[in-house]
Amino acid sequence: MKWKSALGLLPVAAAAGVVTHDLRQRQHALLRNFPLVGHARYLLETIGPELRQYVVADNDAERPFSRDQRRWIYASSKLENNYFGFGTDNDIEHTEGYTIIKHRTFSDVVPGSTPHVGVDTAVPGAKVLGGPRDRAQKFRPGSLVNVSAMSFGSLSGAAVEALNRGAAEVGCLQNTGEGGLSPYHRNGADLVFQIGTAYFGCRDTQGRFDLERLKELVAGAPVRALEVKLSQGAKPGLGGLLPGQKVTPQIAEIRGIEPGVDCVSPSRHAEFDDVDSLLDWVELLAAETGLPVGIKSAVGDLTFWEDLVQQMARGDRGVDFVTIDGGEGGTGAAPMIFMDSVALPFRTGFARVYSLFAEAELTDALTFIGAGKLGLPDNAVVALALGCDLINVGREAMLSIGCIQAQKCHTDRCPTGVATQDPWLAHGLDPALKSARLANYVKTLRRDLLKVSEACGVAHPGLIDADDIEILFAQRQVAPLREVYGYQPGWGAVSGANRQAVIALMADGGHGGSAPASATAQG
Ligand SMILES: Cc1cc2nc3c(=O)[nH]c(=O)nc-3n(C[C@H](O)[C@H](O)[C@H](O)COP(=O)(O)O)c2cc1C
Ligand code: SF4
Repeated sequence: MKWKSALGLLPVAAAAGVVTHDLRQRQHALLRNFPLVGHARYLLETIGPELRQYVVADNDAERPFSRDQRRWIYASSKLENNYFGFGTDNDIEHTEGYTIIKHRTFSDVVPGSTPHVGVDTAVPGAKVLGGPRDRAQKFRPGSLVNVSAMSFGSLSGAAVEALNRGAAEVGCLQNTGEGGLSPYHRNGADLVFQIGTAYFGCRDTQGRFDLERLKELVAGAPVRALEVKLSQGAKPGLGGLLPGQKVTPQIAEIRGIEPGVDCVSPSRHAEFDDVDSLLDWVELLAAETGLPVGIKSAVGDLTFWEDLVQQMARGDRGVDFVTIDGGEGGTGAAPMIFMDSVALPFRTGFARVYSLFAEAELTDALTFIGAGKLGLPDNAVVALALGCDLINVGREAMLSIGCIQAQKCHTDRCPTGVATQDPWLAHGLDPALKSARLANYVKTLRRDLLKVSEACGVAHPGLIDADDIEILFAQRQVAPLREVYGYQPGWGAVSGANRQAVIALMADGGHGGSAPASATAQG
């Protein structure tokens, strides 16, 4: 019967309708890339909590980012309700190393209590980058939170563009990563240009560092600082690898390499081989470009840092910032042993380096930047209390623009178009729409950090110090953060003139208050 066969075609027509809709919409990269079947992921996501409660894992079990952490980032990036209900599901009573932030009962600054209050407040950095060494182009970073180094190559052009546009919207810096400066980096945001061991973007035809090319490059783009990459937490001491399938003709042209062939960054720099020659090179770059110059490194053996502090103490040469990357940090591709076991985790590594500078009374001589899962408010607060001045976010920024933690970045098969050079997969990611997600996420993170600092009675997150935090070791012991990391009084907080400057900058701070006072209270 005709009506029966027509009826039989209905599901096919419905499926075709869904496929057409999925292909045309721009909200969800996953659905554009995997029309129809992609809905299964959203369905599982929706019923996931119930399923997991009986079958799989709890909200805090997954790594690198737990379900709760990802949910917070996704909701924040859409400016949706990112509150959680009923009470914490963290096992506070039995977890080793649980962070507790101590609020104050009375203080001059009061946090607002409505969900989005303060979301548009600019939270600038507490120090002037390049200020202590008086670099020609010193500046105060407009945002406490900035986008960490991730190259075009490991990320798609669409992802780099989304991050750049979003960073421009919220006034934060985007670090280019070691893969050079691409057209996708030129969509409005200020940049930190990273110089890796292969000198991509600033090398000659033989792969040697070329100062003139660097000067041309930074003069023709909104580059505000240079970062010399010594190592990164996920693969310290190892250089880098961009798998051949990700080396497209465009990437090959930007980097000055051969397309389709594994692109290896050497493990060591050719321009310096000890602290002395590193500092000479840093001063050369700063003098020739006028820009603040820093280094990025993971922390292992401390000899390098001891030497650096000793040589900077003389006062004639120095880095303008250090970016400390935790061993738990991310990468596009790295051997498992390096990802899992080489370099200290952020808190331990950072505290060791900061302590060396603090003992030499040099913490005001430079800016401290941290990375390693710091795009989550609790981790960021601890980093700030340990002495970080700025927070870099890598994978959290990727999550905000659609990454679903499929962990296939090294295969070029990223299903959401974030970490791939496959044109079909990358086309799913709409840079305009996802840039708003990055912007919302950064604004929300800054707002949460500000709210916490206000709850602690200080006007800026950089003023939270190591006494404002305690670490729980299950129910056996509670120790102040200061004691856990051997900090002396005063270490960790922004001090002196920087403190006064940041208090003045946040003069309108304090978003909350109380009900009107009764006549008795006024009398
Ligand atoms: C896909 C990807 C690419 C990265 N590329 C670089 C790079 O080019 N240079 C670098 O110094 N770090 C690189 N990193 C490390 C990040 O900049 C950051 O230091 C690290 O992931 C820790 O931050 P997170 O935990 O917020 O991701 C990369 C990380 C990821 C995930
Ligand atoms: S979705 Fe998966 S493959 Fe893509 S960036 Fe995220 S973790 Fe990497």
